[in-house]
Amino acid sequence: MGSYSRLYDLLGWWPHRSAAAITQALTAGPAVAAWDGPTLVGLARALTDGPLRAYVEDVAVLPVYQRHGLGTRLLMRLLAELAHVESVSLFCDPDLAPFYLPHGFRPTTQLVMHRPRPPLRTPHD
Ligand SMILES: CC(C)(COP(=O)(O)OP(=O)(O)OC[C@H]1O[C@@H](n2cnc3c(N)ncnc32)[C@H](O)[C@@H]1OP(=O)(O)O)[C@@H](O)C(=O)NCCC(=O)NCCS
Repeated sequence: MGSYSRLYDLLGWWPHRSAAAITQALTAGPAVAAWDGPTLVGLARALTDGPLRAYVEDVAVLPVYQRHGLGTRLLMRLLAELAHVESVSLFCDPDLAPFYLPHGFRPTTQLVMHRPRPPLRTPHD
């Protein structure tokens, strides 16, 4: 699990998330990983209900391995795992569109809305 935390740390992702939460997230759906010897250098995962919808999450390549086609290979492997799903979606910064467009993803005018978890109540609240 340390390898996954290190990849996320290097990308500045999920600084507050526990190893247990990362493990649970990584086992919740299909995931593909790339290793250079003992080093995890790339990852892509998805969440899916099976036949109808899937959401691509956490496509990531270590900075020094970027722009050599590894992200593309990971995404293609993940999409092969999801080939039976009716619709695959993802969220990304607009400047990353050139990475996803060749794989059939198209921007939408729909509004993406996120709801952060409200503060947890304690027995004394
Ligand atoms: C996005 C990411 C996974 C791409 O991985 P990669 O291995 O560098 O991608 P590839 O080498 O397969 O790139 C293929 C093509 O996608 C496009 N592309 C890749 N990274 C891009 C970027 N940061 N911005 C714009 N276009 C990009 C380019 O057209 C590239 O072809 P080129 O290198 O010949 O110009 C990687 O940059 C990364 O991990 N970024 C930080 C994490 C992140 O933002 N992930 C996306 C979450 S939605």
